Amino acid sequence: MNVKSTWLYRMVMMIVIVAVVIGPMNIAGAAGSRTDRVDRPWMNTSLSAEKRTALLLQEMTLEEKIDLVTGKVNNYYGFYNNPIERLGIPALTMADGPAGVRIANPDVQDKQSTALPAPIALAATWDTEAAKQYGDLLGDEAYNTTHNVVLGPGMDIARIPWGSRNFESMGEDPLLQSQMATAYVKGIQSHPVLATAKHYLMNNQETERFTTNVKVSDRALHEIYIRPFQEAIAKADLGGAMCSFNKVNGEPACENKTLLTDLLKKEMQFKGFVMSDYGANLSTAESANSGLDLETPGTPYGKWGDQLLAAVKNGKVSEKTIDDKARRILVQMFSKGLFDHPVQNNQIDVRDHGKKARQLAEESMVLLQNKNNALPLSKDKLKSIAVIGPDADNGTVAGGGSSLVNPTYTVSPLEAIRNRAGKGVTVQYAPGTDPISAGDIMPGPSAVPSSLLTTSDKKENISAGYATYGDVEQGLRGEYWSNNKMEGNPILVRNDGQVNMNLGFYNYQGLNAKSPKIPNTPTTLNGLISARWTGAIAAPKDGDYALSLTSLGSSKLYLDDKLFVDNQGAKLSTTKKNISLKAGEKHKIRIEYRADYQVNGRDSGGMVRLGWEPPADASDKLIDNAVKLAKKSDVAIIVTRTYDSEGYVERSDMELPNNQDRLIRAVAAANPKTIVVQMSGRAVQMDTWQDKVPAIVQAWFAGQEQGNAVARVLFGDVNPSGKLPVTFPVNEQSTPVSSPERFPGVNGIGDYSDGIFVGYRGYEKSGIQPAFAFGHGLSYTTFGYSDLKVKQHASGKKSTRTSTVEVSLKLKNTGKAAGAEVVQVYSGKLPTNVETPSRQLAGWSKIELKPGQEKKVRIELDPKALSYWDEKSKAWVMPSGEVPIYAGSSSQDIRLTGSVTIPAASKGKAAR
Ligand code: BGC
Repeated sequence: MNVKSTWLYRMVMMIVIVAVVIGPMNIAGAAGSRTDRVDRPWMNTSLSAEKRTALLLQEMTLEEKIDLVTGKVNNYYGFYNNPIERLGIPALTMADGPAGVRIANPDVQDKQSTALPAPIALAATWDTEAAKQYGDLLGDEAYNTTHNVVLGPGMDIARIPWGSRNFESMGEDPLLQSQMATAYVKGIQSHPVLATAKHYLMNNQETERFTTNVKVSDRALHEIYIRPFQEAIAKADLGGAMCSFNKVNGEPACENKTLLTDLLKKEMQFKGFVMSDYGANLSTAESANSGLDLETPGTPYGKWGDQLLAAVKNGKVSEKTIDDKARRILVQMFSKGLFDHPVQNNQIDVRDHGKKARQLAEESMVLLQNKNNALPLSKDKLKSIAVIGPDADNGTVAGGGSSLVNPTYTVSPLEAIRNRAGKGVTVQYAPGTDPISAGDIMPGPSAVPSSLLTTSDKKENISAGYATYGDVEQGLRGEYWSNNKMEGNPILVRNDGQVNMNLGFYNYQGLNAKSPKIPNTPTTLNGLISARWTGAIAAPKDGDYALSLTSLGSSKLYLDDKLFVDNQGAKLSTTKKNISLKAGEKHKIRIEYRADYQVNGRDSGGMVRLGWEPPADASDKLIDNAVKLAKKSDVAIIVTRTYDSEGYVERSDMELPNNQDRLIRAVAAANPKTIVVQMSGRAVQMDTWQDKVPAIVQAWFAGQEQGNAVARVLFGDVNPSGKLPVTFPVNEQSTPVSSPERFPGVNGIGDYSDGIFVGYRGYEKSGIQPAFAFGHGLSYTTFGYSDLKVKQHASGKKSTRTSTVEVSLKLKNTGKAAGAEVVQVYSGKLPTNVETPSRQLAGWSKIELKPGQEKKVRIELDPKALSYWDEKSKAWVMPSGEVPIYAGSSSQDIRLTGSVTIPAASKGKAAR
């Protein structure tokens, strides 16, 4: 079994391992007693964390130190290491973040916690105070649900606009991400809880995430990727960092001495400890000697524990090295209060935290487009609203994977719009498409809608003796085997609306961020699997279609008993074939799928989709119903969504999945007042419908209060003030990473030849016009900018002189509504022959203004925006000369231009 088969590993852990691993011990801690000061001098709180650690370390046996640095997991407590009762060392009890506290223990508050907006949504607030509150809430809930370590925040730069895990971090810009993440870490660590910055480093894509070897320059590392970590270390005394699965410049991240020791611990002066991502530690002595401090999760795939003990005994790892790991962990535990404040199980404040989640969600909404002031809606002018969208009635639209939390309650957009519209306004719902599922994370054409499929003999299908799930009117009969050869009786038979299956990691228990309309698939089918779907298909209109199969593993489509599409599926791929079909004419259909492949020696779980490419104006019953509803309503609100999750694939395109694009076009043609509310953790392609709808709201994955936040923005109770923390490109071909070398990489190498030109820096360099620029976001009011002034002060000795540049301007609310504007300042090209970005974020400020109100805004610029990392001297260099300065409402909506002249004396170590 490969150590990296993380989903399988988790499954095994969740299902097979029971609490006997740790028995009845109290992992929450064994801190102090009345005799502490005598027996345990390290419990003397008047001593420094370093002194307390030194006192404790000298009492610890080698075995105890090894125990401390070797993590464990079980399906009761989740992730932890053993407490060392003899010495009163509490366990590290870890809960996944970063969008809420993911509780594993069923005895703790029903495993429920507040589902916050995803970190990408938080980043869209551009509000560091909000980020601090977010972290504060997380720290509070972690502590009061028995956890002293939060596995978050995510600090992965969103290099790929459609990255499946972009929602867990704070966007594409290093300065924005640094400041937001630092405030977030401060918030968490204001409680006796450690934050864990992840993933160190370059976990910027999920495709091949376990194996990709990132080739990156020292300059790009310094100017882009390490900056959030660096800032959180320098300004928030970051407790933990989690090394990632991927390789960086040839070495796995968790045994990469350059990354862990040289860069993180020496250059960035990280005082905390490094833990491995779960299953990312591949070695014993190598990782221990490279700078990994804590292996998670340990057995059965662990390489530390007894093996590390043996490595010390046979001299491959020195005891001093182990001491340093233990010391790093203990210093953090002492300095952040983990010894003195044992974790608690206190009921979290559901109401208050729900309210905070709503406020954060409201602040995160980005008004992308608002032609003719289509928004806000006015209740007085409306009699009827059509709410449309596969998950508009679902309150738990969130990113999947380890970050998914079990919310204390949820509010769907439909419910909230209904409540807000109140009596006198009819609000009706139509899904418009089949529900969105993990299948939609796979690339390739949208799945054939259920309304075109019929089982031929429904009654017989669901015969006694089979487990049956679902009760769909349309769809195909699905039979499932837990071997990949269709041997024996199927273990599950049911009707499936669509053939759009993605199991494995995406289907382990409790981590399915999907519509409740989709039946659960038993986890016994997560490994080896074969499946067959049978029934009939009928086209909605005469015309030329393509039918396709997307699969990992072989899939065959038989039409009228003849093999029509044969997809080999050695890699996740699509095969399609054209066909002329007549409206309503039924064709017999059979799909056979076998998970007869291995990726890097492991089974990845079943992945298959029956897709279609219909003629442009083809419809289906779900769309027709939505169109009918839209026609008779004053306004149509379409709530779209993507399915984003960690795992091991990304879509290769940015289209909305599962026929939602066609839905929008059809509804917009039926009702010109069509508003799109877009729930996703990443950019989506909008070019086939953007011009057809007056208004678009980017609502992200906004947490458990998403419905209320959406409704309050739509009705103008909240004036939107969010700004994009990522560029939204027109499509996947028009981005700085649109080449196979850059994404997903060729022959296992992810070539970061885009260098420092990540995100908007890259679009600017290549002259690619995005759909919506970085920093973009409209308001229900307007803002006037004037009086730009740029002042410069140099301070310090000549050799280490630093330069502070301050920009000031006047901002006026020139409209009729109160609102907030994020004033952004960008620096231009630097006066040097070294290629630098034509625009990079140098600072910003978020200002609230009443109608007619004007304020002076002062923004100090980040010295790094006036400098570049010089690979030869291994230092930041601030070139002297004139630098253009731009102030505006987005990276492209520049309202004022000025410049600053950096004097020659400022050359040198301009930034750290
Ligand atoms: C993820 C981490 C997460 C860990 C534990 C891994 O698959 O990459 O972000 O903290 O699982 O759930």
